[in-house]
Amino acid sequence: MIFSKKNKKHEGEMPKHIGIIMDGNGRWARRRGLPRSAGHAAGAENFKRIVTFCGEIGIAYLTVYAFSTENWNRPQAEVDEIMRLMDIYLDDSYKELEGKNVVVKIIGERGMLTQKLQDKIAALEKHTSKNTGLVLNIALSYGGRQEIVHAAKECARLAAEGKISPDDIDEEMVSSHIYTAGQPDPDFIIRPSGEKRLSNFLTWQSAYSEFWFSDIMWPAFTKKHLMEAIEEYQKRNRRFGAL
Ligand code: FPP
Repeated sequence: MIFSKKNKKHEGEMPKHIGIIMDGNGRWARRRGLPRSAGHAAGAENFKRIVTFCGEIGIAYLTVYAFSTENWNRPQAEVDEIMRLMDIYLDDSYKELEGKNVVVKIIGERGMLTQKLQDKIAALEKHTSKNTGLVLNIALSYGGRQEIVHAAKECARLAAEGKISPDDIDEEMVSSHIYTAGQPDPDFIIRPSGEKRLSNFLTWQSAYSEFWFSDIMWPAFTKKHLMEAIEEYQKRNRRFGAL
């Protein structure tokens, strides 16, 4: 038998790695007669609550989709607003995350961000790098396909330098050049807001992820909703293509 039983996910286990597409901020705000910026601000507050909760319930890895490579095409004022919220978070996170043992990593095309933001990201990553609790990946200026292109270029570069042969390139090598290298793939991907697509989130890593969709808008997505989603995940029988 090629696939051993240890490849199977047994029912009742907690997901090690959860991915969340934080969608629905704009609609949440519009329904309340508020500007979209208020939705993003409420979304950022909810993000902090969910990060804390994931740490408390022992989730090992959490990846949140904060801003995609496609989101650069939004009106400049909205892009600026989301970057402003991120900037504030990077400043506040020292106090916000104090004692929570969280490791913060920002994944995506960093070169697209302002130098100020890049510097703050590098400082926060360094500050939290020795922590041993929840690993929080914030996908910012992130695109799954772009991440695969990045990994392909790295492998091609090694081949061009004669360090590897093209035949050495396998799934393991590509995995070791994506942004989440060294981390387990997401077991469970959650998308609130009623949309049922992946939108270029963790394209490589989600090959065997379980999905959970809900009509709740991200700012209104509570710990209770997360627990309901996890409970449903725990009933699923993951086979990874085996029987
Ligand atoms: C998608 O919903 C959401 C975004 C493009 C931005 C998500 C950003 C945050 C939650 C705040 C980020 C800040 C931190 C500190 C992580 P949408 O606004 O497109 O919703 P809509 O589809 O209802 O318009």
